[in-house]
Amino acid sequence: MSAAQQPLSHVYPLGSRLDEAGRLQVGGCDVLELAREFGTPAYVVVPDDIRARAREIVAAYAAHTASSDVVFASKAFPCTAVYRLLAEEGIGCDVASGGELAMALRGGFAPERIHLHGNAKTREELAYALDVGIGHVIVDNTHDLDLLDELLAERDAPRTQSILLRVAPGVSPDTHPSISTGGPNTKFGFSPQDAPAAIARAQASDRLALQGLHFHIGSQLMDTAPFRTALEAIAPLGDFPVVNLGGGLGVAYLEADRPPSVEDYVKAKVDAVHDILGADVRIVDEPGRALVANAAVTLYTVQSVKRNVATWVAVDGGMSDNLRPMLYGARYEAQIADRFGGGTSCHVTGKHCESGDVLVRDADLADPRPGDVLVTPATGAYGHAMANTYNGAQRPPVVFASGGDARVVVRRETHEDLFTRDV
Ligand code: LLP
Repeated sequence: MSAAQQPLSHVYPLGSRLDEAGRLQVGGCDVLELAREFGTPAYVVVPDDIRARAREIVAAYAAHTASSDVVFASKAFPCTAVYRLLAEEGIGCDVASGGELAMALRGGFAPERIHLHGNAKTREELAYALDVGIGHVIVDNTHDLDLLDELLAERDAPRTQSILLRVAPGVSPDTHPSISTGGPNTKFGFSPQDAPAAIARAQASDRLALQGLHFHIGSQLMDTAPFRTALEAIAPLGDFPVVNLGGGLGVAYLEADRPPSVEDYVKAKVDAVHDILGADVRIVDEPGRALVANAAVTLYTVQSVKRNVATWVAVDGGMSDNLRPMLYGARYEAQIADRFGGGTSCHVTGKHCESGDVLVRDADLADPRPGDVLVTPATGAYGHAMANTYNGAQRPPVVFASGGDARVVVRRETHEDLFTRDV
């Protein structure tokens, strides 16, 4: 095998490689051909990669504990085709709004496999969730308890609703402050001080079935120790049949990144639960990023190369299709799709009217020129999810590539789409 045919680093989707001509193949498809056929920017997703990661985490739990449930945090990649393939995998689904609930149902999730989150759920969202027969509501605050009691009392058929109570354990793991969610002054969940009253209230209601506690301490976590600290903090709140430890498993955005393996992550969570709460508790995990991030790449076309103090390589997308560099200073890799390598140090910048619209700072590209197809890997999580139409951008298509075949599962937006809500 020549160097050019080596499989690529773990940052790229499963099975990605460079062909004999040094052109990137993803899902068995030549990305230059994908760019020609579907245009750029485009998200190219390898569904087999998502399936493999879902199976890996489910199998790891099955190997370590008798009772577990893996639930896709769908905010990471909310599109019908992704919901559909994870519904087919038989896992559950976490939704954070009525909109995500609608998408999860459309994607084929059975309502009883869906968990509804939210720190500001509206009456309409809760009523919708109850009407469709949602599996679990994660109660975040006392207003949720009031509304649930009221709405359940209004329903004709007497029924109980399974709930989990979200607690903020006062743990701040090492991650970007915007995605740290379980610290001492967070907007999410009950503090350990307020939780006992909420638990007593839920247990006193004959309409609510409190199954257990939930926490989600943060996202893109590279260390598993904070899960144990969080469990220690919530353990005094009582014994329950279920504990939901949220998601958070970090992924590799750069070749040098070494997130915990799925095996190490699952074992750390299970060991901590078994040590602190006992072996009979059902463990729920809510992975988002770890299921989808590395399954996708984004393709762009280089539009201009400008030599100022630095070299600026401008592409036909930017903060409208990947907000993460702007929001969190997130780092990505970039390559010219048919000339992997380096030689030109540059910044890959988007087309938006802000100087901060830089997709990859300090990239090293092989002589980038207008017309080149540029690829950024690891864009499956929170890319499509946070895409927007700033500067009249038309959000990119989502293309599934598998076994050499490609199909569009979300089409590109058109100018017409920009007017669809006009009245
Ligand atoms: N469960 C709950 C209650 C959550 O709030 C989240 C993510 C997850 C699970 C999934 O976490 P994950 O496994 O993906 O780390 N937009 C940000 C990420 C925000 C995450 C919000 N909550 C980003 O692009 O990094």
